Amino acid sequence: MGIFDRMLGDSESLFMDPVPLDYDFMPKLVPYREKEQQQIAVAIKPLFSNRNGKNILIHGPPGVGKTVAVRHVLNELGEKTDDIIPIYINTWQKNTTFKIVIELCDQLDYKFTHNKKTEELFNIVQKDLNKKSVVFCFDEIDKVEDLDFLYMLLEQIYRKTIIMITNYKSWAIEMDERIKSRLSLEFLEFRKYTPAEVTGILKERLRYAFVPDVWQPEAFNIAAEKTAEIGDIRTGLYILREAGNIAENRASRKIESKDTEEAIKKISEMKVKKTAELKDDEQAILDLIKNNSGKKIGDLFSIYKEKGGEGVYKTFQRKIEFLSRNKFISTEKQLGGTEGTTTIVKYERDAKLDEY
Ligand SMILES: Nc1ncnc2c1ncn2[C@@H]1O[C@H](COP(=O)(O)OP(=O)(O)OP(=O)(O)O)[C@@H](O)[C@H]1O
Ligand SMILES: [Mg+2]
Repeated sequence: MGIFDRMLGDSESLFMDPVPLDYDFMPKLVPYREKEQQQIAVAIKPLFSNRNGKNILIHGPPGVGKTVAVRHVLNELGEKTDDIIPIYINTWQKNTTFKIVIELCDQLDYKFTHNKKTEELFNIVQKDLNKKSVVFCFDEIDKVEDLDFLYMLLEQIYRKTIIMITNYKSWAIEMDERIKSRLSLEFLEFRKYTPAEVTGILKERLRYAFVPDVWQPEAFNIAAEKTAEIGDIRTGLYILREAGNIAENRASRKIESKDTEEAIKKISEMKVKKTAELKDDEQAILDLIKNNSGKKIGDLFSIYKEKGGEGVYKTFQRKIEFLSRNKFISTEKQLGGTEGTTTIVKYERDAKLDEY
């Protein structure tokens, strides 16, 4: 038997459909967040009678359903009425007023944005938006570099609800007084799920993703327990998927405890958000960047070496990428210059990370 023969055939996969394990998969319902969704709906409700809505700041630790709950409410809104425009923007990606306004144009299908200034573009979309009411959601709002767009919306959009999502409440508390009083924000906290809720959520995903009965109950319990301990549902989805892959690779028709345990060992390779979850060398590099924010990657590597850091440049580069992907730092490619293309590394998340 060759190595490929020992694997399960395609038709024998343990997965029925791996898509429900994707982090951005939209489940039909978002259980255990009914109250939170209700509160969001209450903030939007005045828009149904052409009055101005309320503004909300949603906060809570990673992977507790903040994004999915809001997106779910926006989807339902879109199905219920054409008179309220739902706009969702992630301000980690669209992190300046200009990029946000371009994104607004994009979502409203306005194509002629080339060579136009921010104000000019905003005036165009503003006319469209003011024909109806609007719900804006700005996710990862603490990543945005300027708040001019908020002033623009507050002053020039008549009927709106602004929802902002962040991992830390302190971001809003430290916000400029003028804008804070104009927003008159309501706070909505998303707490960590209880172990029973984590089990409920993961069971549901598992039902869509796997062939029935391939999970041994104990193997699933280990996954659920670990997820509840960490508190981030993404970790759970990762464990389920990896355990499935591991079982499949050893041509097993069941997912057993040892597969889940093996998958749990790999957690540190996935998306982590808390510094407490970083490995020692990753933490050391993060500290180094903190003290040398804005330097070129090559210079950082030299300092790292001087301080006794181990490994070759490629490994260092990979760790920088890991930290960047997990949003502990940001990197920016700089083209040209005397040394050709280089990467500037910035420390963009501060110690607040661990203080939800
Ligand atoms: N109640 C729930 N029911 C079903 N799936 C859920 C639920 N809560 C969270 N999830 C799933 O868990 C994952 C993480 O949720 P989500 O992206 O909403 O987290 P978040 O609170 O926005 O985290 P972050 O602060 O890191 O952005 C997603 O795949 C989401 O679909
Ligand atoms: Mg989110």
